[in-house]
Amino acid sequence: MNKDLENMRREYVGAPLQKKTMMSNPMDQFDFWLDQALETSILDPLAATLATVNKEGIPSARIILVKEIVESGFVFYTNYDSQKGQDILHNKNACLNFYWDQLHRQVRITGTLEKVSPEQSDSYFQSRPKESQIMACVSAQSHRIDSGKALKEKFHNKENEQTNSPVSRPKNWGGFTLTPTNFEFWQGQPSRLHDRIQYSKNHSSWDLNRVQP
Ligand SMILES: Cc1cc2nc3c(=O)[nH]c(=O)nc-3n(C[C@H](O)[C@H](O)[C@H](O)COP(=O)(O)O)c2cc1C
Repeated sequence: MNKDLENMRREYVGAPLQKKTMMSNPMDQFDFWLDQALETSILDPLAATLATVNKEGIPSARIILVKEIVESGFVFYTNYDSQKGQDILHNKNACLNFYWDQLHRQVRITGTLEKVSPEQSDSYFQSRPKESQIMACVSAQSHRIDSGKALKEKFHNKENEQTNSPVSRPKNWGGFTLTPTNFEFWQGQPSRLHDRIQYSKNHSSWDLNRVQP
């Protein structure tokens, strides 16, 4: 590849992070940073990389959209039979990583995943556009299919079937909540003197530590 990757670099800047000015609860700190991300022109501030591990210990990562943030954690929706769904079935440990480019910030969150209640999944499913609902029904996410044409056919057949009726949530589609045990807030700083503040859960409170960049 004839690209000068080695010489591509930029400076990172932002208000320095200090342990004493970080909030004691990382969910509050996240909320504060999210408000700032929402005020910028970042297109998908709630897009995050979700890393899971399969039963052989092999990791996978992919982008998901966080759809709700509650006291207990971060909610996203997916197909329970997908590759990530299979991973989670065997290993509930996962990591979510947000990268907010314009703010020179990264937030890394480690925790465990649990399915949300069927009622909560139903309620979110019903709020989605009909095309998305139909796609959730016809796509066996992460499973092989012979052609894109075959999938389009499945989509149109389902669309015709459901012209005048509401679409029910397939039982293999729904939400997960990631309940955090660790957070890391990363703020880029000039000369690579980046600030990293980590939180780890200690019973009902959180321990804060600075780590080196
Ligand atoms: C911006 C963006 C948002 C996405 N949001 C979701 C999502 O919320 N849920 C989901 O299942 N897949 C989402 N995807 C697709 C996933 O990245 C991935 O391709 C899919 O979930 C299959 O992953 P798996 O095979 O590891 O299970 C999104 C992709 C992008 C690029």
